[in-house]
Amino acid sequence: MEVIEVEGGHPIEGEVTVEGAKNSALKLMAATIMAPGVTTLTNVPNIADVHVMGKVLKKLGATIDVCDQHTLCIDTSGVDRWETPYELVAQMRASTAVLGPLLSRFGKAVVAMPGGCKIGARKIDMHILGLEALGVKFKIDHGNIHASAPNGITGRVVTLDFASVGATENLMMASVFAKGVTTIDNAAREPEIVDLANMLCEMGADIKGAGSPIIEVRGVKKLHPVTHRVVGDRIEAGTFLAIGGLMDRPITVKGFEPQHLGLVLRKYEEMGLTVERGNRCCTIYRKGPIHPIDIQTLPYPGFPTDMQAQTMCLLSMSDGTCIITENIFENRFMFASELNRMGSDIKIEGHHAIVHGVKKLSGAQVKSPDLRGGAALVMAGLVAEGLTTVSAIHHIDRGYEHFVEKLQSLGAHIVRTNIEDTEEELAS
Ligand code: UD1
Repeated sequence: MEVIEVEGGHPIEGEVTVEGAKNSALKLMAATIMAPGVTTLTNVPNIADVHVMGKVLKKLGATIDVCDQHTLCIDTSGVDRWETPYELVAQMRASTAVLGPLLSRFGKAVVAMPGGCKIGARKIDMHILGLEALGVKFKIDHGNIHASAPNGITGRVVTLDFASVGATENLMMASVFAKGVTTIDNAAREPEIVDLANMLCEMGADIKGAGSPIIEVRGVKKLHPVTHRVVGDRIEAGTFLAIGGLMDRPITVKGFEPQHLGLVLRKYEEMGLTVERGNRCCTIYRKGPIHPIDIQTLPYPGFPTDMQAQTMCLLSMSDGTCIITENIFENRFMFASELNRMGSDIKIEGHHAIVHGVKKLSGAQVKSPDLRGGAALVMAGLVAEGLTTVSAIHHIDRGYEHFVEKLQSLGAHIVRTNIEDTEEELAS
């Protein structure tokens, strides 16, 4: 069993550069289906989720050249299938991002129905309702969603009940070639949605308003391939900044736009951390105690759910008590019980976590509950007394490239290593 071992208490400081955003790269890769030919994506993170999206595209008939470690040349001229099987959707729910592009290109798509996942049910009803409003017919059969637009896709006003990232992206991509104008009302506003809209416009699409709650898509006849650079990963950046917040020496994070972490950085300043925003970089360190502050996760520009665990880790060492409220995913506090094994004092009441700050954490064997929770356990290990062993690190590999190596470069005493499976692991 591969694990990450961290010896806590060593000073960490220096500079680290983040990769392109996972949540953008996956959708940009899916969008290449709509522009037959070779699209070149640069600044693509070399992470497990990107590899899965690569498999999805290949299954559909695309070819992918890895031109260098972070550049993918994706040739979608040979895409001649429209089915995405369960084995890939089960590995990564974001595989459902091909639904909109396949509908755009072929007027039909078959995508396996995603099941529940560890952070909650993660339904796709809003994707389906929105696409139905545009004239797409759905049939669910043997666990697959069969979508077809027999009369083409027709622009309409679609109002989302909730500003869902995935539904906004699928609707935006499905309406690129629609007849007339599609208006997505209560659209998600994440920077990754703006990145997707920017690339689609570079390809020839007519999309206005991305980054605001109302996106307007005017149908065009065709898209052409382009070269596009993936926006920097604000969540990878936020993770290193949270780590810096635990340290009394500065950490500088480069390769992202600090305004994409607007509220996170303001909250970190309220905690008493020193934050220096620069041009595509940010420096952070702690001068005194961490003050307790309440946090609630909300769609962008609210506090990102993807920064909740890392921030909980920071607040677990504050000099008081605070409440973290999770509004996006119903099951995203599993990290808390693992952190409690390291000596934190966190109680969960429904979708609230009551965090009583403690003076120190102590190293323990812990298991990554999910992607961000796994990174936050490694973060806790950096300040805990003694050795922390984090297992189930495949979760971390889904979204962080060279996480261990980057932390080593900052001075952390951390390694990836193989240990023998315990009986409990073998039984699980
Ligand atoms: C994306 C991000 C994820 C991030 C999340 C919220 C990717 C690959 N993942 O996930 O990292 O945490 O945004 O910022 O980009 N919902 C429904 N019905 C729907 C769609 C969503 O009930 O049709 C619910 C989900 O179950 C969830 C909430 O809405 O509770 C948010 O989902 P959504 O914004 O769609 O997130 P994802 O696109 O899945």
